[in-house]
Amino acid sequence: SEVDIDASAYDAGEHESFMRKEILEQPTTSLAVLRGRLDDRFGTAHLGGLDMDARDLRAVRRVKILGCGSAYYVGQMGAALIEELARIPADAEAASEFRYRDPVIEPDTLYVAVSQSGETIDTLLAVQEVRRKGGRCVGLVNVVGSAIARECDGGIYLHAGPEVAVASTKALTNMFLGFALLALQLGRTRDLSIADGKRLVAGLEKLPAQIEEVLAGEADLVEVARQLAEARSLFFIGRVRGFPVAREGAQKFKEISYRHAEAYQTSELKHGPLALIDPEVPTVALVPRDELTERNIGALHEIDARQGPLVVITHADVDLGEVRARRIDVPRNEPELDPILLTIPLQLLAYHAAQHLGHDIDKPRNLAKSVTVE
Ligand code: AGP
Repeated sequence: SEVDIDASAYDAGEHESFMRKEILEQPTTSLAVLRGRLDDRFGTAHLGGLDMDARDLRAVRRVKILGCGSAYYVGQMGAALIEELARIPADAEAASEFRYRDPVIEPDTLYVAVSQSGETIDTLLAVQEVRRKGGRCVGLVNVVGSAIARECDGGIYLHAGPEVAVASTKALTNMFLGFALLALQLGRTRDLSIADGKRLVAGLEKLPAQIEEVLAGEADLVEVARQLAEARSLFFIGRVRGFPVAREGAQKFKEISYRHAEAYQTSELKHGPLALIDPEVPTVALVPRDELTERNIGALHEIDARQGPLVVITHADVDLGEVRARRIDVPRNEPELDPILLTIPLQLLAYHAAQHLGHDIDKPRNLAKSVTVE
């Protein structure tokens, strides 16, 4: 059945919950997944645990990422990174659905299972489906020696340390970074230039300090989170790189605040859900500085015109013009790495909303840390 982690074996120290402790640990835990794996000189990453040489990496024609819940959403962020940096078609699929459609397993596809616990049965069964049909499956796993780690052909350990809160935070950040390392190594065995490789290595190196910078702004988010907690229903919206971030933000909010939070592509709002926008339904919008900024701001105008309350996670140099919104600025890094810095404020918003509502943050109702039943 479902297993709960034995929280008594760990200590939240001076923190009121494991979730908050784990959120605040991220500047350190994010360093751990990068340590010893970045190569400044050649602008690449070294992932010895993958057990794949340059020839194996070059033979990959497609990447399929498999995970559940938040791991699936980070998988979508990872697929985007792999397509952008390595120009290999990549996508993520819910591992819980995968084997039920009798998937075609291709020898030149690299399958990647992603899991914090390494014990999620749906993900484990997906790995077994791939391997039974002769595919190569590597793992991005946090718990060393877990079932998924043992079942995979090789992999990348996430080194986030024990994660006790049901709502995953620091492990997720390290999943994203693990995908960035994989995308970089795949890219550099192909056409990613050394200049771009070095640009991304430098970006990754400065991320832990930037995560710390976002966390330092926690106090400013408490009141916004309380207001969001009062809503019965809210939207999280983003486009392209921002959309999986919106999915993850909505997921975290639902899990611990028990509010209905729905993620949507900003571009799809006008095709239906705009009908729901009114002063009672807030929207949390992801608007990084990128090629879609102006279009995203156009959508914010549509929401504002219907008096929909807006919280915008953005960069300081983005001008929202006349839009009435509570803005939260995150530091800029390389655009490919934006998703993770945009995710951190969403963790804090979910956390403070749930705290305001007086919920059991580490053990939300109806959920277990790792789901070991189908
Ligand atoms: C995350 O906040 C959730 N509790 C949940 O979606 C989780 O990510 C999912 O169940 C997968 O768990 P895993 O990473 O241990 O496989």
